[in-house]
Amino acid sequence: MKEVDLADTTQDVLHVEGGKPLNGTIKVRGAKNFVSKAMVAALLAPGVSVLKNVPEIRDVHVVSDLLRLHGATVDWNDDKGTLKIDATNVRLADVADVDTLSGSSRIPILFSGPLLHRLGEAFIPQLGGCNIGGRPIDFHLETLRKLGANVDKEHQDGIHITAPNGLHGAKIHLPYPSVGATEQTLLAAVQAEGRTELSGAATEPEIMDLVAVLQKMGAVISVDVDRTFRIEGVKTLKGFTHTALTDRIEAASWASAALATHGDIFVKGAMQPEMMTFLNVYRKIGGEFDVTDEGIRFWHPGGDLKPVAIETDVHPGFMTDWQQPLVVALTQAKGLSIVHETVYENRFGFTKPLVKMGATIQLYRECLGSLPCRFQQRNYKHSAVIFGPTPLEGRDIDVPDLRGGFSHLIAALAASGPSNVQGISLIDRGYADFRGKLAALGADFD
Ligand code: EPU
Repeated sequence: MKEVDLADTTQDVLHVEGGKPLNGTIKVRGAKNFVSKAMVAALLAPGVSVLKNVPEIRDVHVVSDLLRLHGATVDWNDDKGTLKIDATNVRLADVADVDTLSGSSRIPILFSGPLLHRLGEAFIPQLGGCNIGGRPIDFHLETLRKLGANVDKEHQDGIHITAPNGLHGAKIHLPYPSVGATEQTLLAAVQAEGRTELSGAATEPEIMDLVAVLQKMGAVISVDVDRTFRIEGVKTLKGFTHTALTDRIEAASWASAALATHGDIFVKGAMQPEMMTFLNVYRKIGGEFDVTDEGIRFWHPGGDLKPVAIETDVHPGFMTDWQQPLVVALTQAKGLSIVHETVYENRFGFTKPLVKMGATIQLYRECLGSLPCRFQQRNYKHSAVIFGPTPLEGRDIDVPDLRGGFSHLIAALAASGPSNVQGISLIDRGYADFRGKLAALGADFD
């Protein structure tokens, strides 16, 4: 396996010879969209926290660097996938230093609550993350204001947030069940004085795992059936030890790769409960799977795949992050598939290169789903119609974002002939050692 330096973005092109089924076993570790948040939670407690089953991905490196800039020590044991974070000493980071990490991730905004509790102030740089829509942070800032923080947006480099008298409980309602804004509220309200009620919240498994971490730390948080969290503020929190839940986005991405390449992949670590919605769709398309104690085996049984109509949604709906890799498999299904994207307004940019490779995909501004979504009549091409099966041919492709990029990689592996996939380092943000995994599955690439 080729050693890859995650800080080095020069190893940025992958030359792929497609047309070979991916067969074999790979292991998926903890969820990117949980691990980064649990690392931020560690900052709440003056002590040591231990996080297990951590994947080696760029986002973990970025959050580790951010924690170090704020005075914490972070030790990483890759063999075990264990992170040890000591947040006994926390200080305000130098604005210029924090700024060097801006553009890398959306996690810095979640540092607000812990830093306000520990230091009374926080500085949030301009945010990065995938370019898949406007990605505003208005819900985050409104939540912090309601909890008593002063939010100053006049700084050129970012946002300065203060709470010299601490935060206090509040009644908050989210206009849309945002994952990040729910986490923001949990991380900020957990030590606010009094009671916080958060309605209209998101309840993704990654969020519930964060609640589990906070409970281990000493928090008092309950959730009602109507997606309302109730948080009783506590004065002190202690460090935690926790094993991260598996990355269900990565697991589904490899499952889609098995389908698109006519392959057979055993994804060690994949968990059925968090993937039920995906598994139902996988079965409807004609993909086979077998759930075991160790993980889930996904394979293409031969014959035609069937088309489906899906709508992305918040949990327990079909995740927006499952959509892109699955679209590649849908180009091989016989008939017309429809994907209505209701979480992000602009998440179909990745289909353009697929069309150049031979796929027939048309984008529509209309809501092609059972219910109109909030992007109705807002001029966003957020519905896709995929007509298949269409053979794919290798091409030179530029990776646009994390999930779109992985779907391009799958397309290149499924296509006949060579492809050069450029900008591959973006995939390191969320897919640990994907080159090693591709090699284990018999892919032909260098
Ligand atoms: N939104 C607002 N205002 C806000 C916050 C969100 O309008 O203040 C909107 C967004 O523009 C979007 C929708 O609400 O249209 C949902 O955004 P959400 O806040 O739920 O997304 P996020 O927290 O920024 C996380 C994941 C994403 C994943 C989404 C949805 C992390 C680091 N990112 O983003 O993951 O797609 O939840 O499940 O947890 C990925 O892994 O590739 C990825 C993009």
